[in-house]
Amino acid sequence: MSSPRSPKPVSASKCKMTEIVLPNDTNGLGNMMGGRLLHLMDKCAAISAQRHANRVCVTAAVDSVEFQSAIQEGEVVVIESHVNRAFRTSMEVELNVWAENPLEETHRTCNRAFYTYVALDEDGGTVPVPDVSPSTEQEQDRYEAAAKRRDIRLVLAGRKDLEDAASLKEDMLTALQHSTDAPA
Ligand SMILES: CC(C)(COP(=O)(O)OP(=O)(O)OC[C@H]1O[C@@H](n2cnc3c(N)ncnc32)[C@H](O)[C@@H]1OP(=O)(O)O)[C@@H](O)C(=O)NCCC(=O)NCCS
Repeated sequence: MSSPRSPKPVSASKCKMTEIVLPNDTNGLGNMMGGRLLHLMDKCAAISAQRHANRVCVTAAVDSVEFQSAIQEGEVVVIESHVNRAFRTSMEVELNVWAENPLEETHRTCNRAFYTYVALDEDGGTVPVPDVSPSTEQEQDRYEAAAKRRDIRLVLAGRKDLEDAASLKEDMLTALQHSTDAPA
């Protein structure tokens, strides 16, 4: 195990889960129930958080999840997750979900979601986690975007004043500036 606060690569937290959709997972139309998918996503994301933190981690928040495409009985659900960024005791985990049709050899994107986990010690108290060291341009972009999403979720949860959400203020001012620019 690395020292408690030394940064860890995104690859250390990657998790991939593959599961076939059986009748018990579906509604009357033969589509996978949303709650069943959310349950699998929560398990996959928890594994990522725990791989990163080497601690027991609990779900603190789930950002809005959209189900873009129904997953049918007999299809295979593939869920991939990794930690985008760690803050002090919390981490943002990104999840990407695909449906695979093994008979037709096709696959399609179903959804993407962001979950927040908090690491706990043996007494159930929150505990600091290592930072993430992004190593590709994509990981760096995700790392930076994670700070903005965290500001949004903390403002929405009433845990942070908009005044203190520096990254959001900048973006909002830029957006307002653009919206008041005269058309070309
Ligand atoms: C999540 C939990 C540990 C936070 O406890 P807390 O006393 O509020 O602790 P803190 O205020 O120190 O917050 C801890 C971290 O969680 C983050 N956090 C708390 N609520 C959050 C939210 N709604 N969105 C994003 N982050 C959140 C804080 O920003 C802080 O992050 P940081 O240390 O990286 O800055 C606590 O609320 C809890 O145990 N909740 C139940 C978890 C659970 O059972 N999940 C399963 C769902 S049934």
